[in-house]
Amino acid sequence: MTATLIDGRAAAERLRQRVAARTAELAATGLVPGLAVVLVGDDPASQIYVGSKTKQAQETGIRHFDHRLPATTGTQELIALVRRLNTDADVHGILVQLPLPRGVDDSAVLAAIDPTKDVDGFHAVNAGKLALGEDATVPCTPLGCLILLREAMPSLAGKRALVIGRSNIVGKPMAQLLLQNDCTVTIAHSKTQDLPALCGESDIVVAAIGRPKAIAGQWLKPGAVVIDVGINRVTIDGKSRVVGDVDFASASERAGAITPVPGGVGPMTIACLLMNTVNAAIRSRGGTDLLRP
Ligand code: GUN
Repeated sequence: MTATLIDGRAAAERLRQRVAARTAELAATGLVPGLAVVLVGDDPASQIYVGSKTKQAQETGIRHFDHRLPATTGTQELIALVRRLNTDADVHGILVQLPLPRGVDDSAVLAAIDPTKDVDGFHAVNAGKLALGEDATVPCTPLGCLILLREAMPSLAGKRALVIGRSNIVGKPMAQLLLQNDCTVTIAHSKTQDLPALCGESDIVVAAIGRPKAIAGQWLKPGAVVIDVGINRVTIDGKSRVVGDVDFASASERAGAITPVPGGVGPMTIACLLMNTVNAAIRSRGGTDLLRP
């Protein structure tokens, strides 16, 4: 193994400590940041994610309001809940856990969230502001990726960055963030031709396609920084394991730095959610002294 490991758990802990310190300062002035978490149905993975979000919110001093609804909840009922949360002064951030059950119009539900409380950064207003380079709430996973990337590569200007995956939640906002940081950005997706050649000319590779070990280490430019967003559950030798989108064993022989799975991007996502919530609380009273990634 030659690559440096980028430690997401340690970076997330440092960010949580900054969030907790700012939350304590705000609370001393009477402003307790509040996060509403909406979970519909009983998807086991979503329950685990939501459990971690509320636990970490509590540990950092953020007040959380849990709304657990049955899988039969309809679009209009959810929109009505979101509208109530929009007008609740104790709630600064609203998170509707995805995926929503089949039949629910998730775009309509997300569009109903007040953009100033959209701590996921999924609302069209925040996506648009990010694209325009304005002050936006940035989706948590790409924000976490950027923080980890900066640890390994402090100067991003002029670097060739390849984002593999074009989702609204990770790929597209990731590409916008890299562009804002003066990278030359390529977005690859399922119809891209000759992905190995694109990897071979990239200083930065962010993999977010949700396919286990799909990116081979041999494709990488020697010394590249690799950020692996994948969280894929697979069975190896009869044991259930989580692996990334990048083949870690071969990639760590060739990359300059790489995020492990687990322990890389995953922990950063929740830490960034907490940061976005505290920033939403600061903005709610006109403050500009935001926590910066
Ligand atoms: N489901 C998986 N990841 C996320 C996330 O970052 N936010 C929300 N709301 N749902 C998710």
